[in-house]
Amino acid sequence: MEKVEISEEMIFECFAAACQSDDMAGTAESFVDVEEYENRVMYPEFARWASKAGYPELATLFRKVAGEEKLHAVWLRALYSDIGVPQRGEDTQRAIDALEAIRANCDALIALNPDGVVEKALTVAIRVEEREYQDIYPHFRDQALAANDADTAEVYQKVIDSERQHAHWFQAALDNFRAPQTGAMA
Ligand SMILES: [Fe+2]
Ligand SMILES: [Fe+2]
Repeated sequence: MEKVEISEEMIFECFAAACQSDDMAGTAESFVDVEEYENRVMYPEFARWASKAGYPELATLFRKVAGEEKLHAVWLRALYSDIGVPQRGEDTQRAIDALEAIRANCDALIALNPDGVVEKALTVAIRVEEREYQDIYPHFRDQALAANDADTAEVYQKVIDSERQHAHWFQAALDNFRAPQTGAMA
């Protein structure tokens, strides 16, 4: 079989970053677009990989986080009733294309090296969650605060706390995944 290479960077490219606009409605639309993409496409795909690789608990964790990403969009939608179906952001479209490009190779790679794929998925998920709670969403919150919109700022803060928790869950799962299987040797 041909050698398949999928780097952590290639998986990272499959995630989109929400983009701040000059106006808060534009920021909100990008936020909802990315959160719904994570809910519908990205984390379900990671769950599929984990399940195929033989790690049903990790698949359950990815699905649980996917559900919470949906909630993030729901929280903000409650304040912006006119978002409807958000315009597909450029970065989300790029992420979807990147995912399509690696999907076939990914299945082949899971067959060859299931643990390697699952470990990369967890590492990337941590990086993405950290980017959101440490960098992107604090800027969104500050934009709302600067506009004296306390309700919107409060939602972004709630999301920041939730993304931090996601990063911690994935870190704990990764630590556990990498831990030597001492129990099996007893
Ligand atoms: Fe989220
Ligand atoms: Fe998250």
